[in-house]
Amino acid sequence: MSQPLIDPFHRPISYLRVSVTDRCDFRCVYCMSENMNFLPKKELLTLEELDRMCSTFIRLGVEKLRITGGEPLVRRDIMTFFQSMTRHLDSGALKELTLTTNGSQLARFADGLYAAGVRRVNVSLDTMDDQKFADITRWGRLKQVMEGIDAAQKAGLRVKINAVALKGFNEDELFAMTEWCAERDMDLTWIEVMPMGDIGNENRLDQYWKLSDLRDRLREQYTVTDLPDSTGGPARYVRLEETGQRIGFITPLTHNFCESCNRVRLTCTGELFMCLGQEDNADLRAALRNHPDSEEPLEEAIRAAIRLKPKGHDFDYSRQKIDGQMSRHMSHTGG
Ligand code: GTP
Ligand code: 5AD
Ligand code: SF4
Repeated sequence: MSQPLIDPFHRPISYLRVSVTDRCDFRCVYCMSENMNFLPKKELLTLEELDRMCSTFIRLGVEKLRITGGEPLVRRDIMTFFQSMTRHLDSGALKELTLTTNGSQLARFADGLYAAGVRRVNVSLDTMDDQKFADITRWGRLKQVMEGIDAAQKAGLRVKINAVALKGFNEDELFAMTEWCAERDMDLTWIEVMPMGDIGNENRLDQYWKLSDLRDRLREQYTVTDLPDSTGGPARYVRLEETGQRIGFITPLTHNFCESCNRVRLTCTGELFMCLGQEDNADLRAALRNHPDSEEPLEEAIRAAIRLKPKGHDFDYSRQKIDGQMSRHMSHTGG
């Protein structure tokens, strides 16, 4: 391996999140507007280019690859890409190949993902109520996602549920979701809603549910023990002693985890974002396309980008108007 990637704050970069498409078959109200404009397909990195990008990052020390979107499983032929990454798992250079998905296509792809070496998937699910699910996703069918989760577990994949904590929306499902996840042996992570992208009329300040409140509420019913960090992700975990399951909290707004940040994000058009909450980015696509026969310019472009990684994000909920605080949508950088 060449010299590993270390940022200016001495943080080793070992985790790459790759958005393979900005498209999604849902339109969650906190994520997208109803009439999203998606990128023309020709703007996207091809599957071969994605392979070259990821392989270069792996050569530079990336050990964990998380495929995201939009919804990664709506990208045509995406299984070819997963299969092409298997060689890095086999060589031992890549320790984990995983994805974050809305679950809608999992029933079709779970077996193939397992065969490609995926062992764990994070499924986004904010409610267990059919009507509320249809409302929050604008048209999604809960049943389809539930079938996806079943298929994933049957295929041998470990499933973690990600739920965005939304005041007045899923507050009343805290215990029901906890119990459902416990019964199915799934961890559950709650995410504070982040001010990303202009989503029209929704006001995220009204929806913002502080996770410290949620944690206090859990304490009313369970014995809650703090756990040390284990996944290398941003979540802080606790264990519920009564069920044995882990509950994660992703709290960029109330408890910033930037000091131990180990990741960067590649968009589906080949820009590298050094932080989810900052606009600084580097165009890696040019380095890739202008030098089809040499990996050195791409490696150098990656190293130069990592030297620009900021200390932390700029999210701020103290301002009155938070919608569109970050013009980029989560689906562009892959969450
Ligand atoms: P694990 O490997 O299971 O720990 O996954 P993860 O938490 O790294 O990935 P996942 O895609 O499940 O992340 C859940 C959500 O956490 C993302 O969609 C983002 O909303 C948020 N998130 C992940 N990384 C960061 C980060 O670096 N900064 C901020 N602000 N939020 C992040
Ligand atoms: N704030 C917090 N989480 C978000 N997600 C999408 N948009 C936002 C936002 N503005 C979440 C999804 C999914 C993950 C990929 O990102 O619900 O769990
Ligand atoms: Fe799609 Fe996920 Fe965004 Fe919902 S949150 S619209 S499922 S990318």
